[in-house]
Amino acid sequence: MMRQDKIIAIDGPAGSGKSTLGRRLAERLAYLYFDTGVMYRVVTFVALARGLDVYDETLITALAEQIRIDVQPPSVQDGRENDIIVDGADVTWDIRKPDVDARVSIVAAYPGVRKALGTQQRRVGLRGRVVMVGRDIGTVILPDADVKIYLDASAEERARRRYQERCARGETADYDEILLSIQARDELDSNRAVSPLRPAEDAIHLNSDDLDIEQVLEKATALAV
Ligand code: DC
Repeated sequence: MMRQDKIIAIDGPAGSGKSTLGRRLAERLAYLYFDTGVMYRVVTFVALARGLDVYDETLITALAEQIRIDVQPPSVQDGRENDIIVDGADVTWDIRKPDVDARVSIVAAYPGVRKALGTQQRRVGLRGRVVMVGRDIGTVILPDADVKIYLDASAEERARRRYQERCARGETADYDEILLSIQARDELDSNRAVSPLRPAEDAIHLNSDDLDIEQVLEKATALAV
């Protein structure tokens, strides 16, 4: 018998396929899918849209503490998983743009930002029946998760996927630029003082370089049931 109230944590670097895996696994188990990267992206996007200095830690932390992020079922079938709404505005695709990619690691390194967003993430996660995806879910946010997966892939493979995603959305994309941005983000995410990207000691490692999504999903499902 499958226990039905599990907490499943999926961590890994940008572009490893953890969002796709998390969404598919949640669908399969009829669990809530929660992509925590969205929260760091929203804070970064709103800071840029308001012309705030992302290097001003006090200002950005205050923003993270105040901001209300609504995640709603998709209103448009354009490949989105959810509508991401802030102050009544749909920012679903804005938070995926290169200017956010380039600055989100700066914002995500601030302890006060992590505390504010982490509190909200933990509240949702502890209800169970959730697949939560991020960088520090198994290590910091939900260290008692029932299943912890660390999904990895080479930087080149991850850049190739991001490039294809952007092209598929009709956006202009440059592979070399994406690769550099991914490498820079890995560096910042792995070396920050607070909750750096690293596998939990009890995480199961999966590498998606040579596995397609269906194969990764099969392995993850076997771990989750
Ligand atoms: O998964 P993503 O690319 O959407 O994440 C965006 C950024 O947010 C990423 O550079 C690191 C940060 N992040 C984090 O620090 N902790 C999380 N749990 C999720 C994301």
